Amino acid sequence: MGSGQFSCFPLTGFLKSIELSEIDSTSVRDASTIATPKTAKVELPTIDLTGRCVLLTGGASGLGRAIVDRFVAGGAHLAVLDRSAAGLTELKTRYGRKVLTFHGNVACFDDNVKAVSTCVESFGRLDVFIGNAGIYDQKASLDSLPGESISDAFDELFAIDVKGYLLGAKAALPELRRTHGAIVFTASVASVAPGFGGILYTTAKHAIVGLTKQLALELAPEIRVNAVAPGFIPTQLGGIRCLEQASMSAQAPDPSRFLLKRVPLTEDYVELYAFFASESSVTLTGSILLADGGSSIRH
Ligand SMILES: NC(=O)c1ccc[n+]([C@@H]2O[C@H](COP(=O)([O-])OP(=O)(O)OC[C@H]3O[C@@H](n4cnc5c(N)ncnc54)[C@H](O)[C@@H]3O)[C@@H](O)[C@H]2O)c1
Repeated sequence: MGSGQFSCFPLTGFLKSIELSEIDSTSVRDASTIATPKTAKVELPTIDLTGRCVLLTGGASGLGRAIVDRFVAGGAHLAVLDRSAAGLTELKTRYGRKVLTFHGNVACFDDNVKAVSTCVESFGRLDVFIGNAGIYDQKASLDSLPGESISDAFDELFAIDVKGYLLGAKAALPELRRTHGAIVFTASVASVAPGFGGILYTTAKHAIVGLTKQLALELAPEIRVNAVAPGFIPTQLGGIRCLEQASMSAQAPDPSRFLLKRVPLTEDYVELYAFFASESSVTLTGSILLADGGSSIRH
């Protein structure tokens, strides 16, 4: 493979462009050549989503909103199910008829079914379901939770963060089977390590690992099921309402707190969703792609 050329390995699609250090192979032993490499900008293909019909939950803000922007730019037909009327209105203002919006609750099976039917009526098919809507527990420990509130708090968080994914997948199943489609879930670093959420969030996000793997087994070979597990992202991820918890702050913390010394942004993750939503990931199912910038290895 010559300088500047790439194989068809799909992961190359993650990058729009990279700086390549070109070193003349005839003079690799020449220290002066190695010390002063020439730099060439090489354009790599982005993942093409043209014509992909996608239903995304929680697309009205934060990470989901960045996924909307990436998927629309990539040529996908997109529908968003979210409970935020204001966020959906903003999406409509920005994209008009390019994005279908559906106001509803992911914890309600009927709302998921209606969202899938709307997709199929409008697009003629469904290729991808992305379960992403979620809430957080503000790192509340078991000790700190009032005993009489635990049952309601558990039900509220698990209804959205776990049941919502399960119901969305169930509603999308018949169509995804027909199209040999894909399911992508938003997991979290809290899916694989303690300390990034409280007792309820960590337990719920760990459940997404089981959900992803079990569904991948049950739905093969027609449907692939994978998850992206981001680390911290500055968004206004909502708290548990019955505990009157505030949302997370969207204020970016000091980059020095991160192993990679940069604050990860919502748009940093979108290519991973494009990858799992596309044919580039045909060999992957049951995978949890940990995208936490190394935070769990330092923890
Ligand atoms: N922000 C982080 O640090 C972080 C890290 C790892 C994983 N995540 C996960 O990313 C996903 C997106 O979160 P975000 O950070 O973008 O927060 P966000 O609050 O900006 O986005 C969540 C979206 O889900 C919607 N939603 C919540 N409950 C709903 C319901 N019952 N029905 C329909 N829609 C509902 C909200 O209205 C919102 O638009 C969540 O699953 C979250 O757990 C977030």
